[in-house]
Amino acid sequence: MFSDFPVSETVQKRHSVRTYDPRPLSEQDLEKLTAYAKTLQTPFGIPVTVHVLETGDASTKKLGTYGVIKGTKTFLGVTVPKGALSLEAVGYSFEQLVLYATHLGVGTCWLAATFDRKAFTGAMNVRDDEWMPAISPIGYPAEKRAISETLMRSGMKSNQRKDWKELFFNGDFRTPLSRAEADAYAQPLEMLRLAPSATNAQPWRVLRQDGAFHFYAKVAEGRGEVDPPIIQRVDVGICANHFCLTAQEQGLSGTLKTTEAPANIDIPDGFRYLFTWTEDLA
Ligand SMILES: Cc1cc2nc3c(=O)[nH]c(=O)nc-3n(C[C@H](O)[C@H](O)[C@H](O)COP(=O)(O)O)c2cc1C
Repeated sequence: MFSDFPVSETVQKRHSVRTYDPRPLSEQDLEKLTAYAKTLQTPFGIPVTVHVLETGDASTKKLGTYGVIKGTKTFLGVTVPKGALSLEAVGYSFEQLVLYATHLGVGTCWLAATFDRKAFTGAMNVRDDEWMPAISPIGYPAEKRAISETLMRSGMKSNQRKDWKELFFNGDFRTPLSRAEADAYAQPLEMLRLAPSATNAQPWRVLRQDGAFHFYAKVAEGRGEVDPPIIQRVDVGICANHFCLTAQEQGLSGTLKTTEAPANIDIPDGFRYLFTWTEDLA
């Protein structure tokens, strides 16, 4: 699936926007976003649905973000049938929409925690057999961030990312993958590194082995409805989108699949295998 925007440039431009200009999103931009949302395909063929919500009128005034998001009343939400790789599919495809919005000059901010989940879930008629992992405000970024946003960013060190040696491995998990060894894949991996993640935790770990890239989630604790936890699965889906789109941009065509996790290697505590990218054979 092609992206319709310059990937590396857009990835580097994107940042979370919590402070918006009060002017509403233009009908044209909203139309472009909803049309693009309908074309989104996930690597695992799982249907992901994007909803548009306008808050603030009598029926939707409860749809709040505890003051975290200022200046816009328009939100996107995303739902998916519960199942294996559904959450990774949400991360992958909703992030592609986030990048497309960035390309249009529209601000976004993944929200998985700081919003009234019950009210938004009700407004989207989310069924028991579906997940609604996240929403995002959309609108035009204000010229100046609210102080609360600046404080939030500095608390989470949102402008920083972990080093390569903590994230990418060559052959086994004892050997870091250097930029030089990554060769043509240095750019896809660098764009992956810049991806957004909940609390900027960057739970993704990638192991290169025999030309394949194996994606893992590093879980702090395996608890809750699924293991790895919902949000870390979404995060790894997001980073995979940056990797795949950048690889495509570089002319490296490949496919994401769930194959067998690599055997005969020591897996650090808390690492959970999710899926593998392999180059398509010509
Ligand atoms: C899955 C996911 C969930 C997030 N949830 C929230 C949230 O509930 N509230 C919030 O203010 N930011 C949330 N964020 C935004 C992150 O804090 C932000 O992406 C991170 O700090 C990096 O900053 P950046 O997006 O500007 O690069 C979330 C991001 C992701 C990817």
